[in-house]
Amino acid sequence: MSDPQSISDLTTRRTRVQSAADAIRAAGLLAPEVAVIAGSGLSGLADRMVDAVRLPFGDIPGWPASTVQGHAGLLAGGLLEGVPCLIAAGRAHLYEGYSPFEASFNVRVFQALGARTVIVTNAAGGLNASYRPGDLMLITDHLFLPGMVGMNPLVGPNDDAIGPRFPGVAGGYDLELGRQVMAIGADLGFRVHRGVYAMVAGPSFESPAEARFLKQIGADAVGMSTCPEVVVARHAGLRVLGLSLITNRVLMAQPEAVADADLHEEVMATGAAAAERLGELVARVVGRATGT
Ligand code: HPA
Repeated sequence: MSDPQSISDLTTRRTRVQSAADAIRAAGLLAPEVAVIAGSGLSGLADRMVDAVRLPFGDIPGWPASTVQGHAGLLAGGLLEGVPCLIAAGRAHLYEGYSPFEASFNVRVFQALGARTVIVTNAAGGLNASYRPGDLMLITDHLFLPGMVGMNPLVGPNDDAIGPRFPGVAGGYDLELGRQVMAIGADLGFRVHRGVYAMVAGPSFESPAEARFLKQIGADAVGMSTCPEVVVARHAGLRVLGLSLITNRVLMAQPEAVADADLHEEVMATGAAAAERLGELVARVVGRATGT
């Protein structure tokens, strides 16, 4: 992976994706119609599937290992509401030292396995003053900040077999799936917002000045994942639904006392509390996602 300019790099990448897809098939996981990526504290989504086959990331050649506490690090394949699904509990982040290619490897493999729709979930900090921990944000657009300065997974030779050199991402978040989330979310008692997700590389949380900057450039929530996966999914023409669980408010001013050691704990606790409802929401959306 050291020389992203070369065509041999493209071949290496294709081989790596195919080997992972082959191993997943060989382990007996169903070919998915829908793939779901479960973010921090949301791994319980995988427990909702019927007759799921579980495969630890470590058993899939080339799949980046999950090093984050709260990420189960496994792929589960089975039926969710009667629909063949894959659920990845955990993902690879740039802040773990993974490349943009590795941070979107999951989606490349989902596509190779035949998935048509990807549901990407994450935990995010709320920048919009009306957002409270436990709220849900339907992602309508994003600010892929690392991507804008060169950490876009599509940098390097283009795989023309998958998609165009210059893919558009406008309109990338599926409107129909979004409408379903607004209706089902309200039904389940979520406060659901529609908003813009900003991705930062992390791992340090935003300084108050950075948080004010993000808000001023139009972000409603901020997190450390998702955009690489969405860009790769759109390049391949997959339908995308993006959901942020708001786990904390982002500090906009210097605090009286600094307690940043607790923020990851807060993210995990809020994720755990909402995981059940979010699982129900995802299951209902999946149940209606096919054939549209
Ligand atoms: N900032 C960045 N990423 C996050 C946050 C946050 O406040 N909360 C959860 N993921």
